Amino acid sequence: ILEILLKGLRRLEYRGYDSAGVGIDGGNGKEWESNAKSIQLIKQRGKVKALDEEINKQQDIDLDVEFDVHLGIAHTRWATHGVPSPVNSHPQRSDKSNEFIVIHNGIITNYKDLRKFLESKGYEFESETDTETIAKLVKYMYDNRESDDINFATLVERVTQQLEGAFALVFKSVHYPGEAIKFFIDLLIAVVQEGKSSADWSTPSFFSVFSAGKDKKSCSALPRTDQDTCLFPVDEKAVEYYFASDASAVIEHTNRVIFLEDDDVAAVMDGRLSIHRIKRKTGDYPARAIQTLQMELQQIMKGNYSSFMQKEIFEQPESVVNTMRGRINFDNNTVTLGGLKDHIKEIQRCRRLILIACGTSYHAGVATRQVLEELTELPVMVELASDFLDRNTPVFRDDVCFFISQSGETADSLLALRYCKERGALTVGITNTVGSSISRETDCGVHINAGPEVGVASTKAYTSQFVALIMFALLMCDDRISMQPRRREIIQGLRVLPDLIKEVLSLDDEIQKLATELYQQKSVLIMGRGYHYATCLEGALKIKEITYMHSEGILAGELKHGPLALVDKLMPVIMIIMRDHTYTKCQNALQQVVARQGRPIVVCDKDDYETIKNSSRTIKVPHCVDCLQGILSVIPLQLLSFHLAVLRGYDVDCPRNLAKSVTVE
Ligand code: F6R
Repeated sequence: ILEILLKGLRRLEYRGYDSAGVGIDGGNGKEWESNAKSIQLIKQRGKVKALDEEINKQQDIDLDVEFDVHLGIAHTRWATHGVPSPVNSHPQRSDKSNEFIVIHNGIITNYKDLRKFLESKGYEFESETDTETIAKLVKYMYDNRESDDINFATLVERVTQQLEGAFALVFKSVHYPGEAIKFFIDLLIAVVQEGKSSADWSTPSFFSVFSAGKDKKSCSALPRTDQDTCLFPVDEKAVEYYFASDASAVIEHTNRVIFLEDDDVAAVMDGRLSIHRIKRKTGDYPARAIQTLQMELQQIMKGNYSSFMQKEIFEQPESVVNTMRGRINFDNNTVTLGGLKDHIKEIQRCRRLILIACGTSYHAGVATRQVLEELTELPVMVELASDFLDRNTPVFRDDVCFFISQSGETADSLLALRYCKERGALTVGITNTVGSSISRETDCGVHINAGPEVGVASTKAYTSQFVALIMFALLMCDDRISMQPRRREIIQGLRVLPDLIKEVLSLDDEIQKLATELYQQKSVLIMGRGYHYATCLEGALKIKEITYMHSEGILAGELKHGPLALVDKLMPVIMIIMRDHTYTKCQNALQQVVARQGRPIVVCDKDDYETIKNSSRTIKVPHCVDCLQGILSVIPLQLLSFHLAVLRGYDVDCPRNLAKSVTVE
């Protein structure tokens, strides 16, 4: 079970990696009991590897023992409350004898009040986490239960009713051996069918739970309590259940999954799975269908690349094709987006478009805003989700709000989505994760189909979001005669885009060489304007997040209003100068920088001999339609950040302090 859990954790490590822990059936390390009368916790600071080493150190754990009941939960943490340390990692426990343990994703906003209450009842806290309150609260409620036969799921439901915030939880308890309960969003259950050998068994992870012995002949979904309980069509022959926060943890074992929704409580008891909705609304259809994922194991493996980020950068010629596949007909210049077809007329009638996102996904909005304004002739606002919420931005019923998110789980974006829905706006998701919260909660949307993105620094999702938004803009004006020449130009630009991306990727050696000249610098400024302002922001974000160098994306039009003061002969400067309507103004900016003894590295059009002649150093990219050029100008910066991080000796896929899915506000 430990090996299974650890393997699953490694697959999900990109989501959080500052500490890790497991909680498994055990009896003081030696006397393992089939019905799990005690729980053993092993936790460690650092990556899953450190946890693995810690487990190996504990000689009394015999990995070869076979159990009748297999059940463990495991977690990799990205700290919100309390520094990364064994005591702050999950599972958190109710007391020193580990009566109840819990793992948690999200934030409990009322944890201080709960903690004060529990302290007044004599509970002693050992960690700084909000999660520990949940472990203690469940014990408090168990100890004060009104009847002895309260079952685990009911107990957990009562606990969750006291919690405020956002949370996905998995529980295990010595009082309920062989049972595991999970609650809430951002989790999936994977169902494995009978017929696999035990050698094929493996696991889940971020949260992981594994249940039902291999000798169990069949498990079915049974109603747990009353009519509210969902009876869904779980395969009669399912013998293993994995609870995980992400499909990549389970895909090597099964592609059959059930996505839980808000307020769902799923329980595995004696090999049976049931799902119960806590707050069932009228008209709620409780059944949860088993879905078949298209993901392949190979998609989440690094292959011949040194990191996921590098692999994902080089996948872009294919990932943009996958975004367009079946959606663009290049022969008759038409665009079809199935996920929007029932709403497109309403969108065309709207008063404005608001693009809401965080980080790189926000930059995809900045990158496409101009072409959206041009092709839709609507006002387009691009908003950072957190700021949008902080400002209580006015939103109206005739607004259309887009939520751009690779993971589909970013808490700020999700909260902004709920905010816009409450105000009656139509909501559209642009996500890379089928079944994610944003894709489920929006009225309609477009899946970007870029394939799983594992590297924490987003690369291929950005270019695919870019293409998806352009396709949307094209769809919005498909019946406007005056727009047809421009539409055709862009669609034909999209046709050749994958080949042009390949051409840019062939600059890799040249960019690596440039990185060897820059990697000891402290700072890099990236300047551009128009379509390339987003490239500057995105390039600077990539450099910051994986190289830890200071980097700033600067709108070249703002240079003389302040940032020019940073320029001297020592400051590394990258400028993006493309032959579009801002070309002359960019040339002016180049002159301003050169006049201050700056020696900028210029990303330019490969046929732009004038810029090439006037610059000491250039990165020459192929030319394409102006509004798509940002896809080609950003790739050299993705490559540069990657090489800088490698040269500086950092873990490219797991930058410090960051996590892939930011499910906390
Ligand atoms: C940067 C990066 C982050 C994410 C941001 C939003 O490389 O990956 O800035 O873009 O956290 O995440 P999603 O797109 O999942 O909503």
